[in-house]
Amino acid sequence: MDNQTLSSIFQRHFGEVPALVAHAPGRVNLIGEHTDYNQGFVFPAAINFGTWVVATKRNDDKIHVIAMDYDNQENQFSLSDIQYDNEQSWSNYVRGVVKVLKAAYADVGGANLLVTGNVPQGAGLSSSASFEIAILKVMSTLYDLHLDGVKAALLGQKAENTFVGCSCGIMDQLISAMGNEGKAMLLDCQSFAIEHSPLPNTHQIVIINSNVKRGLVDSEYNLRRQQCEQGASLLGVASLREATMDMLETAKVHMPDVVYRRAKHIITENQRTLEACEALKIGDMTTVSKAMAASHVSMRDDFEITVPPIDYLVEIIDEVLGSSGGVRMTGGGFGGCVVALAPTDKVDAVKHVVQEKYFDRTGYHADIYVCNASQGAFAS
Ligand code: GLA
Repeated sequence: MDNQTLSSIFQRHFGEVPALVAHAPGRVNLIGEHTDYNQGFVFPAAINFGTWVVATKRNDDKIHVIAMDYDNQENQFSLSDIQYDNEQSWSNYVRGVVKVLKAAYADVGGANLLVTGNVPQGAGLSSSASFEIAILKVMSTLYDLHLDGVKAALLGQKAENTFVGCSCGIMDQLISAMGNEGKAMLLDCQSFAIEHSPLPNTHQIVIINSNVKRGLVDSEYNLRRQQCEQGASLLGVASLREATMDMLETAKVHMPDVVYRRAKHIITENQRTLEACEALKIGDMTTVSKAMAASHVSMRDDFEITVPPIDYLVEIIDEVLGSSGGVRMTGGGFGGCVVALAPTDKVDAVKHVVQEKYFDRTGYHADIYVCNASQGAFAS
């Protein structure tokens, strides 16, 4: 939807001309899964699906928000008393973000907000992070807070950790804030060093949504996080970022097998992420292909976050791509999407094999999005 249409819808609801329209993208992670909360490396791209927020300031301390995608549901709260809302759970992203923002910047005041988005929800493409970052962009612009992308990402993550209740890492918020058009972003989640890396113009990012409804996501996610922390503590390091495979093999006998396998995924995934990023720079697709394939196997066997329909998608797409491209599950897991880096002339074959085989085998219909890497909300 274009900004002009959004502005007139806002005007119809609130009876005033909006001060601004902000946008923040969702993301797809090319490689580096569950490494972010282990202080490791991730390599995501912001995508051309996102959240839009249209806004004006208010003179009181109220936030009045309308969610276009939830039948124009309205939610109101006062800045001086922000509680969790059990009825309209979508509103907790606004409530959480505004609460942490207000705690950091006393100057924040009321606002009228109209929200809409097109990131498929529950698909592992960070619809929630894009919502959080879009709200942060709007509020920081309205109230002239000079928020930068890293600070915004940390506030979004804090809202999700402390208010919404998911112990997510920093990747989703940071790429939504800082992504660059046409580029993927290597992020060191320990130092927050960012390297924008051009994507080859020979390949397309193809996202295949398995449409498997993600179950137990938060509990399994939080459990993985605890197991990683246990691994780090058994190895005597502050985080698995500091661990090596040699250290892990030496300590193996003293570790529960499940903790060993979780740690193995993280240590090897960090290595693969760096390798894939370097290989992509020089157009070495064979190495990218191998790294993405190994990442998937590691998520399937060691981290145990994939599901059979996703494994099947990866298998049939891999048969089409061979070493000319890569494919793996992307995101937190337990359903969601597969990402492929496909040579442009093989995109149709990827679509075809999915349409041909996926439903017959699994009973699910897949959605396919050919994406562009796009600009983050706070990126310059
Ligand atoms: C979710 C979290 C991220 C990250 C990924 C897995 O998207 O929000 O912080 O941990 O899962 O890589």
